[in-house]
Amino acid sequence: MNHSPRAESRGRFALDNRIAVVTGACGKLGPIWIEALLEAGAKIAALELSDAPASSAYSAIEEREPARVHRFDCDITSRSSIEGAAAAVMTRMGVPDILVNNAGVDQPPDSGGNRSRIEDLPIDEFRRMLDVNLTGTFQVTQVFGAAMAVRGSGSIVNIGSLYASVSPDQRFYDHLPGDIPFLKSPAYGASKAAVVNMTKFFSTLWGARGVRVNTLSPGGVLGGQDDQFKRKYGARVPLGRMAQAEDLKGPLVFLASSASSYVTGHELRVDGGFTAW
Ligand SMILES: NC(=O)c1ccc[n+]([C@@H]2O[C@H](COP(=O)([O-])OP(=O)(O)OC[C@H]3O[C@@H](n4cnc5c(N)ncnc54)[C@H](O)[C@@H]3O)[C@@H](O)[C@H]2O)c1
Repeated sequence: MNHSPRAESRGRFALDNRIAVVTGACGKLGPIWIEALLEAGAKIAALELSDAPASSAYSAIEEREPARVHRFDCDITSRSSIEGAAAAVMTRMGVPDILVNNAGVDQPPDSGGNRSRIEDLPIDEFRRMLDVNLTGTFQVTQVFGAAMAVRGSGSIVNIGSLYASVSPDQRFYDHLPGDIPFLKSPAYGASKAAVVNMTKFFSTLWGARGVRVNTLSPGGVLGGQDDQFKRKYGARVPLGRMAQAEDLKGPLVFLASSASSYVTGHELRVDGGFTAW
């Protein structure tokens, strides 16, 4: 391990030369997790669907850090795709020290043409959300987590949500136009609550083998929401606002690094107190 002066100053939060896998790397939060891990000294295996366009935030990181960020194709709903990605990551970079299970699907409130009443919600949409958010997280953990357990060390961070704990307040969306009101799917929170529970399962299974498993549950993250939503949402948050990128980085590095060496099976809510009210 390289103990550079910067690493010394970061102390137990240092991740120098650690290998971190981040799934769903090219979306909104993926680049935030990647920046946080890079700032702490890690190298990144960025896993993403082969046909997913890279966000400008992701492209900027890849361009700036070509030696420390590598993209690998991976569909987390396919075991063979995950195994292919794992083989490629391990050949090119080694066995990962950190896994951030970030890939997930939600339905954006602007999907106006695609709304359903609860009694008509297509079951395929419900299943799809569980398939990616829950089953996908399980399969990625099977493949990468098992390699960490064999090696005898690792930190897995599952990205949950405030909606793992509470139901979405549908009034946040009642100003949106449309014949059928926007309804945030019950599958989303159910999938995230299941991830919180599965986190506990793996923390107990692999605790004795040196692998810690925790959930980081963000509140709503600022970016692209309309003003009315932001006002209604902010009024529900004890800290009075949506989360910003910088709010998420410290908690991730804490869970990924030895700063949290005695923390496992935990859900760290980074929601400005939303779920305290
Ligand atoms: N944005 C928020 O406010 C917020 C709040 C709480 C929790 N979260 C959670 O954070 C995570 C990231 O959210 P985001 O806002 O960046 O979403 P996003 O939609 O911007 O990004 C998700 C990424 O996952 C990828 N993905 C989807 N299906 C995949 C699959 N089968 N295999 C591999 N990759 C796949 C997508 O291509 C996309 O790049 C999700 O788990 C989400 O539930 C987000």
